[in-house]
Amino acid sequence: MEHVRIIGCGKAAGEQKITNNDLENIVETSDEWITTRTGIRSRYISSSRNTSDLAIEAAANAIQSAGINPHDIRLIIVATLTPDCVTPSVACMVQAALGLNEDNIMAFDLNAACSGFLFALQTASSLLQEGYGLVIGAETLSKILNWEDRSTCVLFGDGAGACVIERDEKASMTFYARSSGDTAHALYCGSRSLQKDMHNVKEDKQYLEMNGREVFRFATRAMPDAIHAVMQDDDIDTIDLIIPHQANRRILEYVSKKMKYPMEKMIINLDEFGNTSSASVPIALARAWEEGRIRENMTIVLVGFGAGFTWGACRIETGGKQL
Ligand code: UT7
Repeated sequence: MEHVRIIGCGKAAGEQKITNNDLENIVETSDEWITTRTGIRSRYISSSRNTSDLAIEAAANAIQSAGINPHDIRLIIVATLTPDCVTPSVACMVQAALGLNEDNIMAFDLNAACSGFLFALQTASSLLQEGYGLVIGAETLSKILNWEDRSTCVLFGDGAGACVIERDEKASMTFYARSSGDTAHALYCGSRSLQKDMHNVKEDKQYLEMNGREVFRFATRAMPDAIHAVMQDDDIDTIDLIIPHQANRRILEYVSKKMKYPMEKMIINLDEFGNTSSASVPIALARAWEEGRIRENMTIVLVGFGAGFTWGACRIETGGKQL
């Protein structure tokens, strides 16, 4: 358990909203198929901005929401599987954009696929000694999608979410994180160009591939496993809010039924954003924060799963103050 609390959240999205109807003009699909199989109705695609641009916008919003002096930030971790380039890290780009080059900061990226933000939050919580930590999940998945593969391109979107954390003895976060080292390619993306490219650019490179059914099966086991692990012997009913990875509404319905936990107490925005991988949990967190749904003395569980396979959860006890 770490005594840390979140003091501000922010988000950003790709600038172009693409509806299911728009996708009907790109691949052989239908609004009806996408909506009933996934719950997704639209997603945001970034045609001109890369991952760092979205990360910087989300970070600036989180800093503003926290009302802190950015020069007191001591740690920046960006979870991403779609960085702008191999090096430098997106985290260092965020540091530079915030004008923090001369400050006493450690900044680095981390890749745990869609569980990335949870892994980054755990890492930041254990590393942070003083000042503030900036934890970001940011993706431009559109650049690794095959826009001719209807089984994947309809699912994902571009965006970023961020939060600012500080140490606080009155608040706590309990983490659970696991990786299976499953190399069966259920969710896989090989070597590829990291340059921003847009729809249907045909190059000799590999795109994201997925065995949807296998991932679905894994997700419905992994999410309850992680939630039970962070709740230990405590009743699931005592969770005030679950903020899950936004992959598929049917997965969340399954988890809700299996755990007898009401859907109304889950933050769900995949209908608008689609699956933004490591950005999905912090975007949903930022939305809950903006809507005032995160208050004092609450138990909140963040939970996710992703390629690798990776999965995990974070139980947040907000304590006496708002988060
Ligand atoms: O962050 C983790 C990311 N991934 C996930 O969470 C994915 C988890 N899995 C899923 O969400 C679901 O498995 C999918 C939504 C991806 C697919 O749903 P499904 O019910 O498992 O469908 P399926 O893959 O078994 O495909 C059923 C049919 C196939 O046609 P036939 O072979 O039955 O004729 C597909 O070719 O649906 C077809 N299909 C589509 N049809 C219209 C696949 N994609 C599409 C599409 N539009 N976009």
